[in-house]
Amino acid sequence: MEKLRITGGRRLVGEVACSGAKNAVLPMMCAALLTREPVTLTHVPELQDVATLLSLLERMGVSVQRSGDTVTLCARTIDSPTAPYELVKAMRASILVLGPLVARAGEAVVSLPGGCAIGARPVDQHLKGLAAMGAEVRVEHGDIHACARRLRGARIVFDVVTVTGTENLLMAATLAEGVTVIENAAREPEVQDLARLLVAMGAEIDGIGSDTLVVRGVERLHGATYRVMSDRIEAGTYLCAVAITGGEVVLTDAPARALDAVIHKLREAGCSVEVGEDWLRLVAPRRLRAVDLRTAPYPGFPTDMQAQFMALDSVAMGSAVIRETIFENRFMHAVELQRLGANIHIDGATAVVTGVEGLQGATVMATDLRASAGLVIAGLVAEGETVIEQLHHLDRGYERLEAKLASLGAAVARVER
Ligand code: EPZ
Repeated sequence: MEKLRITGGRRLVGEVACSGAKNAVLPMMCAALLTREPVTLTHVPELQDVATLLSLLERMGVSVQRSGDTVTLCARTIDSPTAPYELVKAMRASILVLGPLVARAGEAVVSLPGGCAIGARPVDQHLKGLAAMGAEVRVEHGDIHACARRLRGARIVFDVVTVTGTENLLMAATLAEGVTVIENAAREPEVQDLARLLVAMGAEIDGIGSDTLVVRGVERLHGATYRVMSDRIEAGTYLCAVAITGGEVVLTDAPARALDAVIHKLREAGCSVEVGEDWLRLVAPRRLRAVDLRTAPYPGFPTDMQAQFMALDSVAMGSAVIRETIFENRFMHAVELQRLGANIHIDGATAVVTGVEGLQGATVMATDLRASAGLVIAGLVAEGETVIEQLHHLDRGYERLEAKLASLGAAVARVER
């Protein structure tokens, strides 16, 4: 099993180019199921989750060609509208094939994605929305069976803001008969990017970026070529990695407009952050101030940046209260940070972090993608060596992580056990 070894104490300085957004490219690849024509995506990141989804789509009969950061998918025919458990359990986002398969093929058998480390992660809102659009939906032996001769437009009101729920039903609605209104829709930039791809494919969508999406179904969609937006969580992660070391960085090809809540918190922590059209420059103070956080759906503070900021708060001046309102179990990085010497008290969905003068390197365990990012950030300042195990979590969501960190001056290496 691979591990990441970090020797703390280096001040990070330099420039990093942002990769394509994992949480935008995953639904976009599923959108290719909606048309028999080729869909070409550029700026596609080299990630385990992308590879997993491409192999699932190929098993369905989608032709996939990849060269560099360009992927062309063509669902001329869909031989098998199914997503088996062994692939869905590897990546929950496989649920995003459900809406497109029912809309295009009239049927789908998709394994129920189980929970994961951060929570139960039900998909009831996805199923409720499809049923409202006339699909016959049943769950048997752990599989979702959904079918519909043709989906029909409906008014859907989500009980909870759900990113992939919004994406699944948005894709399904593009080919439904009539108008679909999705209320309490997620407004995440990745949802907006997907909507822009769908429009480029011929879909008729109003309200992009708002919490009410209005979709007029069309008979068919055509192919398109589209550049995937840059990854705002990757960008935020590097801003935190540099900030904790008191360094400075320029992020290029950055989703500068999608990071307001994160930039606001970094400024509150004492960083100066300049924002350009597609670049960001951060200069951090020698020591950060602790900042309170409360995660929320976009445009609120992203839950996917909570672990990274808990690492910042662990060595900042003062103490902070972090409230995680999206997932019920997203503090597992706290116990690992405590192994490095952090002073964190967890009470349900609230963590109280009291900054300490310094952390000490140790071997820690990654439990989920963003928790491992938080541990990497802490390892950059922990005295001595920090070894992070279960690296596969990191490889799911960060392209060339150690190369990018090393280019900023970090002492980081991937080692075999
Ligand atoms: C997406 O997950 C992201 N994944 C997650 O990023 C991200 O943390 C999350 O949105 C929140 O921003 C992708 O986009 C592939 P939700 P998703 O449905 O869509 C509850 C990462 O690290 N809910 O918005 O699965 C759910 O339990 C990953 O890149 C229901 O109750 O999250 C949660 O409490 C981690 N019923 C809340 O809504 C449903 O049917 C938000 O979940 C659906 C969701």
